[in-house]
Amino acid sequence: MKIVLIGFMGVGKSSVAPQLAKKLGINIIEMDDFIEKKAGKTLKEIFASGGESSFRKFENEVCHEIANIDNAVISTGGGVVMNANNFTSLKNNSTIIELNASFDTILKRINQKIPRPLFKDEESAKKLYDLRKPLYEKFAQIKISTDNKSVSEVTNEIIESIKL
Ligand code: S3P
Repeated sequence: MKIVLIGFMGVGKSSVAPQLAKKLGINIIEMDDFIEKKAGKTLKEIFASGGESSFRKFENEVCHEIANIDNAVISTGGGVVMNANNFTSLKNNSTIIELNASFDTILKRINQKIPRPLFKDEESAKKLYDLRKPLYEKFAQIKISTDNKSVSEVTNEIIESIKL
């Protein structure tokens, strides 16, 4: 079983993924951690030294490197949908689930302690949100709203949805 979580920054992918993996008894892959390991730099440093294009290159490579992994929940970064080529690997034997939330919810959830180079200000983040919304919907097989739901509620909803 392979579950790929996609969705905008702040929808709850990184909070839901560990609980989901635990309940399903499978591994968790946090793609941003893999990217940091591969680059030997933090996310902040990757963006500072090579910009977004450098980050996207690492992200694309990691997508392909994990293509054959099974029994895992893969938590992707919010921008993984910016390159359709990432999905040639991500969709391999997997269920792709979009977690979504209203922009208001996202604003409340975004934790400024976690560096998010692409969440600069409200206005540019909203533009990115609107640009990406149709892309998450296009790539996902299952779509789940996380608005007003706890991590456990979302986790259980995912488990129900994959049983169908
Ligand atoms: C990004 C989202 C981040 C991280 C990077 C780029 C994006 O992950 O991959 O900062 O382009 O939306 P989260 O969605 O986990 O915040």
